[in-house]
Amino acid sequence: MLDLQQLVDRENGQVSRRVYVDRDIYEQELEQVFARCWCFLAHESQVPNPGDFIASYIGEDPVLVVRDSRGKVNAFLNTCRHRGMRVCRADEGNAAAFTCTYHGWTYGNDGKLVGVPGYKEYYYEELDMEQWGLVPVAQVESYHGFVFGTFDAKAPPLREYLGDLTWYFDFLFDRREGGVEFISGVHKWVMDCNWKFGADNFIGDGYHVPVSHISARKAGFGGSPQRLASQATRQGASYSVNVQYGHAFTVQQQTIAQAEATPEFEAYSEAHIEEAESRLGPRVRGWAPGISTLFPNISFLPVRRNIRVWHPRGPNKTEIWNYVYVDKQTPPELKEIMKLYCSRAFGPAGAFEMDDGENWKECTYSNSGYMARQYTMNYQIGLGREEFHEELPGWVLKGTNEHNQRGFYEHWSEMMSARSWSDVENKFPKLRKSQKR
Ligand code: FES
Ligand SMILES: [Fe+2]
Repeated sequence: MLDLQQLVDRENGQVSRRVYVDRDIYEQELEQVFARCWCFLAHESQVPNPGDFIASYIGEDPVLVVRDSRGKVNAFLNTCRHRGMRVCRADEGNAAAFTCTYHGWTYGNDGKLVGVPGYKEYYYEELDMEQWGLVPVAQVESYHGFVFGTFDAKAPPLREYLGDLTWYFDFLFDRREGGVEFISGVHKWVMDCNWKFGADNFIGDGYHVPVSHISARKAGFGGSPQRLASQATRQGASYSVNVQYGHAFTVQQQTIAQAEATPEFEAYSEAHIEEAESRLGPRVRGWAPGISTLFPNISFLPVRRNIRVWHPRGPNKTEIWNYVYVDKQTPPELKEIMKLYCSRAFGPAGAFEMDDGENWKECTYSNSGYMARQYTMNYQIGLGREEFHEELPGWVLKGTNEHNQRGFYEHWSEMMSARSWSDVENKFPKLRKSQKR
């Protein structure tokens, strides 16, 4: 295993450029991060009925998420136990069973091997069918309908893994009775960059917005100049918040309605703010959640009801999956507005997306050279100024900064070196407000 201690220097806010381009580091990530962490698989609204399935991934491993005939959501490694063929090759659908297209082994939607061609004639009924079902994901749990899975049976329970990120998660997904649903369809595209570029950017990079997205802003994306000006006058400070296990989020001091990106959603949010307050408390009038990353590879952009997953496809490739979610009770015409708004801004041809993608791709190319790899990247904005906040969970820093990225890489290096979950510190609850790190 590589010694990664010198790659991430948390105290000095520096990270080696190798973490974005090195093949050996990438292979270690698949083993140490993706095969052990809780990874997002699907939302329950995507598989509402018995037999519904959706194809997903954990790292580079294809995973089949399927609601079995008894209504339980299961997840399996989507590879046939005979020669490893992908058992289910459709992106989504409904099936009582899955037949492998290579030699025809058939699995029930509970993962059991139920049919083998030539079971009598070729195997003489000696094949132990019980032993050769689909490989289950070791733990599958959900929170607000978000189904997560981990291949590590010893990973902490999902609720513990999410830790204080539930403060943020509830804020996004529990505003109205019935919770949220995913709008049908997932945008998927491949980009020439390491998966961490997306996770790093969405965890709290407010620094790039006025520079990278100036043309999108000038073109009117994000609202008219008048609307942006009036939002700016109503908006208080923003904060970056690190919680356990490398997760982090941002919040702004304003109401959830004031943070909405379109007038239609501002009116919708205002109309239902009392319901949100009854579920979430007074924070809905004091704070609005901003961007966030749940370690390792799912990010949230709530102002556009946008969720994205950064699937690794090699050190220099990422498959981006882009979802749009809405409160279940959102009127159909507003769902349509949000779907289009999100696609235009952050779909594969979205105005903001193209700015970000260009940066990440170019960083990947320019960090790949031998000399460039000898240097570090700078993560020093706000270093040493972190503190606790009365109302916010975790470890907090006000204004534009790189606090959340520092927390992400600190945890990343810990996961990359830990032999098991018992070596991984769940450090934030141990800190008290009076303590310094
Ligand atoms: S690989 Fe699936 S039946 Fe042979
Ligand atoms: Fe961006």
